[in-house]
Amino acid sequence: MAEILDGKRVAQALHERVEAQLRRVAGRGRLKLSVVLVGDHPASASYVRGKQRTAEKLGLDGEVHHLPESVTEPELLGLIDRLNADPQVDGILVQLPLPPHIDERTVIERIAPEKDVDGFHPLNVGRNLAGVPAVWPCTPAGIMAMLDFYGISVAGQHAVVVGRSNIVGKPMAQMLLQADATVTVCHRKTQSLTEYTRRADILVVAAGVPGLIRGDDIKPGAVVVDVGIHRVNGTITGDVAFDEAARVARAITPVPGGVGPLTVAMLMVNTVRLGLRRRGWGGDVL
Ligand code: GUN
Repeated sequence: MAEILDGKRVAQALHERVEAQLRRVAGRGRLKLSVVLVGDHPASASYVRGKQRTAEKLGLDGEVHHLPESVTEPELLGLIDRLNADPQVDGILVQLPLPPHIDERTVIERIAPEKDVDGFHPLNVGRNLAGVPAVWPCTPAGIMAMLDFYGISVAGQHAVVVGRSNIVGKPMAQMLLQADATVTVCHRKTQSLTEYTRRADILVVAAGVPGLIRGDDIKPGAVVVDVGIHRVNGTITGDVAFDEAARVARAITPVPGGVGPLTVAMLMVNTVRLGLRRRGWGGDVL
């Protein structure tokens, strides 16, 4: 049976690093994360509550701006402008997806790059690609922190990423590449997906397809990271058929309790990093 990579344990370790920095600067004021939620998408609302709760638990101010589904793009951009200009706000996150009448690109590009805790602004995407320090998107950054926590070496390994979204797949491939993995990126047009996944030492699945990866698709002894989260017949499952995969892999993340907690923890890390940097308070989290 594979080792279970426990996202909650890694998140706890990240939380402790965040708290240490917050204790260090406690006399100077509180850092603040502003989360913008548009509409009532139940999963988004639940993610946003989790982000706010974690922020408050660690000693950050976490505020949520909940706008109605009917909000216009200029109104949303107006809120972002106010948050950009507010010296008390260290990090801004606009929960995606947005309703179809709002252009996500326009919104992401409106966020001040120095407050972009998601690392989605093209300036930060470009900085990361060029290897210039910026914050990385939370999910792939959390996965890298988990590999590090469990002592899983990346250099020289063949990493296969299934999925090429801007939020997970693309930055994941870049982070693995910068950690000296040999990286293959697969996606919905990939022919013979199994031929690639079966050659992965590290397999990261962010395809958004429940149970896409079966036991037979995995190289014996591989490390499997499942980014998917779905509700199927009332149970929460990922993109990987867990029981089959766990019989083949060396280590695997569960769903839930794997990647999810890491994403939220890394959001806190990014908020504190950006806050310390913007306020000139020195120090860093990682
Ligand atoms: N929706 C799903 N994942 C994310 C994320 O990492 N950031 C934002 N802003 N929205 C998301």
